[in-house]
Amino acid sequence: MALLALRDVSFAYGSETVVNGVSFELSPRDFLCVLGENGSGKSTLVKGILSLLKPSSGEIFMGDGLRASEIGYMPQTTQLQKDFPASVFEVVISGQLAKRGRFRPFYTGLDRASAEEKLDSLGILGLRDKSFCDLSGGQRQRALLARALCAARKLLIMDEPTAGLDPHATEELYGVIRKLNEDGLAIIMVSHDTALAKRCATHILHIGHPGQCGYCGGQRVFFGAASEYYN
Ligand SMILES: Nc1ncnc2c1ncn2[C@@H]1O[C@H](COP(=O)(O)OP(=O)(O)OP(=O)(O)O)[C@@H](O)[C@H]1O
Ligand SMILES: [Mg+2]
Repeated sequence: MALLALRDVSFAYGSETVVNGVSFELSPRDFLCVLGENGSGKSTLVKGILSLLKPSSGEIFMGDGLRASEIGYMPQTTQLQKDFPASVFEVVISGQLAKRGRFRPFYTGLDRASAEEKLDSLGILGLRDKSFCDLSGGQRQRALLARALCAARKLLIMDEPTAGLDPHATEELYGVIRKLNEDGLAIIMVSHDTALAKRCATHILHIGHPGQCGYCGGQRVFFGAASEYYN
């Protein structure tokens, strides 16, 4: 049974359609890499999957008991996040908020233990009380990944998790992500790193700009097994 299925889904901002008729399926344990040029709608698509945006047409189905609040999300890094005035622990534990009901505004001991366990599993427990804005790029991405893991039950979505990292930090983070996938988490990762997608991904979704297709004037979309894409 598919964990997630999109059928002919489009997203628009006002009258401007930025994602046009995308379909794909994700099974448990799949590793989907989303490729495409700047502005082709990758982040928009991700926000749609997270129910932060409503499709202008088409349908999104979730299976295997998956709920949007149980999807771990690591957003594309912005300057605002880099300057966020909080400790690493506060940033990571805030990942518990997504899955709690509105009647439980306080963190429990279990929430705290779970946040510490995520920090530990990513090798950054020692940074627990450090200010988030003082972290290096690689440490910051690990903290944001720990935050996303607080919510992730079956699916982790990352939007350009290695942007701005040096090759060593990139390799390290990819090692962590691959391990999470091997341990059973399905992954959707937006990336511009096609060489890396080739090594990690089981499936590729490549989206072009709407109106770019020379034949139909629509949006060029490839979805299939990674082996098929690279052949
Ligand atoms: N909140 C918004 N309101 C209006 N237009 C938006 C909004 N967010 C994104 N867009 C536009 O939608 C298009 C797709 O943006 P999106 O951020 O999804 O692209 P992307 O593929 O993630 O690009 P990048 O690789 O640069 O991250 C762009 O033309 C962008 O300007
Ligand atoms: Mg983006």
